[in-house]
Amino acid sequence: MEKPVTTNRTLVIVAHPNLTESRANANRLAEIKDLDNVTVHDLYATYPDGKIDVEREHQLLREHDTIVLQFPVYWYNVTSMLKTWFDAVLIHGFAFTFDGSPSALSGKKAWLAVTVGSTLETYATDGAARRPLDEYLAPVTQTLAFCQLDYQGFHAVYGMIFETSDETLALDAKEYRRLLANSETPVG
Ligand SMILES: Cc1cc2nc3c(=O)[nH]c(=O)nc-3n(C[C@H](O)[C@H](O)[C@H](O)COP(=O)(O)O)c2cc1C
Repeated sequence: MEKPVTTNRTLVIVAHPNLTESRANANRLAEIKDLDNVTVHDLYATYPDGKIDVEREHQLLREHDTIVLQFPVYWYNVTSMLKTWFDAVLIHGFAFTFDGSPSALSGKKAWLAVTVGSTLETYATDGAARRPLDEYLAPVTQTLAFCQLDYQGFHAVYGMIFETSDETLALDAKEYRRLLANSETPVG
């Protein structure tokens, strides 16, 4: 008997306020745009007035098996639209429960695709940022865990405020594509 074809559907939620001036995030999006198993959902483009259609977001989340949050690090944090999205969309009954019952997100995988202005060395305990990036991402990763998403790690490119070469960006985007195309998750 033939096995049913099971495709892992991935939702990439993009939260960059100005993709026309972006290098890293725009590069990544150009690289993945033809992937059939991936839905790219650009929050700033979808909601220019910042008013999020919560039902629509819930439907999108239900329809996918893996959720990727793609954003540039702004002030050691997510961009403001992504925080607005968390507050509006991740609500009790849908995204989390208090009685141990599964949420609508339970069992789905999640990972982060971040772009970072400072270098990796800056994000060392003796660097200017004083702690590694994963410590800054802790509120996000804990939010995902609280919503019963299975957090897998993050894919990052550092040093974007410096003259990051086109080659580095191309390699970053190719690795991003490889992960998404194969429904793999980043290590780390
Ligand atoms: C408002 C703002 C805040 C930023 N805050 C940080 C930060 O806290 N840490 C950091 O490493 N880079 C920071 N950056 C740099 C961005 O992370 C970087 O420009 C971005 O990841 C590059 O991606 P892009 O080419 O897609 O725009 C900031 C940039 C802006 C505009």
